[in-house]
Amino acid sequence: MAVAAPHAMVTTGHPLATEVGRTILQQGGNAIDAAVAVAFALTAVLPDAGNIGGGGFIVYRDARGAVSALDYREAAPSGATRNMYLDAAGNPTDRSITGHLSAGVPGSVAGLYEAWKRFGKLPWATLVAPAIALAEGHPIDADRSHSLADDADRLIRFPASAAQFLVDGRAPAPGTMFRQPDLARTLRLIADSGPDVFYRGRIAELIVAEMARGGGLITRADLAAYRPKWRTPIQVDYRGYAVYSMPPASSGGVTLGEILNILGGYDSLPPFGSTALLHLETEAMRRAFEDRNRWLGDPDFVQMPLERLLSKSYAAQLRAQIDPARATPTPPFEAGAPGGTETTHYSIVDADGNAASVTTTLNNSFGSAVTVTGAGFLLNDEMDDFATAPGKPNMYGLVQGESNAVAPGKRMLSAMTPTIVLDPQGRLFLVAGAPGGPRIITGVFNAISNVIDHHMSLAQAIEAPRLHHQALPDTMMLERGGFPPAVIDSLRAMGHAVREWGYHALVMGIERGPAGWIGVADPRSGGSAAGY
Ligand code: DON
Repeated sequence: MAVAAPHAMVTTGHPLATEVGRTILQQGGNAIDAAVAVAFALTAVLPDAGNIGGGGFIVYRDARGAVSALDYREAAPSGATRNMYLDAAGNPTDRSITGHLSAGVPGSVAGLYEAWKRFGKLPWATLVAPAIALAEGHPIDADRSHSLADDADRLIRFPASAAQFLVDGRAPAPGTMFRQPDLARTLRLIADSGPDVFYRGRIAELIVAEMARGGGLITRADLAAYRPKWRTPIQVDYRGYAVYSMPPASSGGVTLGEILNILGGYDSLPPFGSTALLHLETEAMRRAFEDRNRWLGDPDFVQMPLERLLSKSYAAQLRAQIDPARATPTPPFEAGAPGGTETTHYSIVDADGNAASVTTTLNNSFGSAVTVTGAGFLLNDEMDDFATAPGKPNMYGLVQGESNAVAPGKRMLSAMTPTIVLDPQGRLFLVAGAPGGPRIITGVFNAISNVIDHHMSLAQAIEAPRLHHQALPDTMMLERGGFPPAVIDSLRAMGHAVREWGYHALVMGIERGPAGWIGVADPRSGGSAAGY
């Protein structure tokens, strides 16, 4: 799964999107040009996650060393209310997961255009063109056929989704020519008029009409008001390496930073796979996720003590609480306190050394399952990333508080962790990220630590079995079959609830190689790497 090339590299969740990225780079496009072209291509070939109806985050480092972070996360519609997803008894419903009410105002088209306006080189229409060709028709692959089969019962509830993605109510067989004429038309409009047509023009009309059809909340004013936002990237030092990642509205960078700060205070870590290492990592993850779940939310709505949370002195306090011999139970969550893989990540380095780390999502597979009639794209179900019922678990089992409660115009907290790491000489060293809900954060942590602490190649680091802990549920999740029974027994004896699991974050990364770049697509995924 590792591919080496001297000049430039791209790794994405779908081989056809990877090819689009490589072609743009070979035509003289830079990393942002390739990122934009890949994003649109993923909409056509990976509709489970690739999107124009969702949102995402870009961490970008230019060859001169300036790092920026772009937030084009979806926002709650102006009609959203705190308890909109609760039933009469106060319990969460699935209205935040499937159907029109689950959709936030999409950010992708605005975000991609903003990134291109600031950093792109090739003409906008050139970047959308490959996606138009893919939307006009490409043979569907086996992974897509399977994922459509898995979600056919959700998609069939919405006629435009059934018409676009299913054949007689079933997933198309691998090899079937997959034609999406409505999407091709939408992409042509976006190629010609940029985001205006999406947020104010013809596509906006179709989105609002779709909302009327299914009782959704997104209005013309919500679309017209949407803006992507440049944020200050999170930066932490880990053993001399500079780690840059996404700040809120994603929790990715802060949570990853806390884990690294806690573990970076030990002179060295115990060997890979040992009971002692898994214990320390769990205790660091637990504490970082406790803070995440309590404090973090949209920075335009909540105050967060980010400086304190990311300070080395605070990490030292947390480290001092770790008992090397016993698990610390996660305290019950006080909700009143302040405070399928269906996302996709791609990493790009161009021939000048500019790097883009991009994660984008519809939230779960095929998002809300609602296709905008006549426009040919799926809407997200990102509203479920809010604490729809503070103190109760969401789709990913995350238990979160008021900081992430629903409010009009607010961005729901994400776990997406697009990350860039520099080596101690200040050179670009790693570009990485993943889909996988909260497991993204720990998946990216595992990959970085495996390279820096355990001296693995990126390919080994990504392939190595993983550990995930998110404070609540208070369960250590170990990748099934990855760790010997004796290690698991000794972790249980230390007081850890251990569960073996098969749900992976799919890490897509690039590392500096001896002569150029090495791209690695997680072997658990159907993705690919290619360079030149
Ligand atoms: O933003 C988030 O954290 C989630 N919406 C990501 C969902 C995800 O990664 C699902 N895919 N496996």
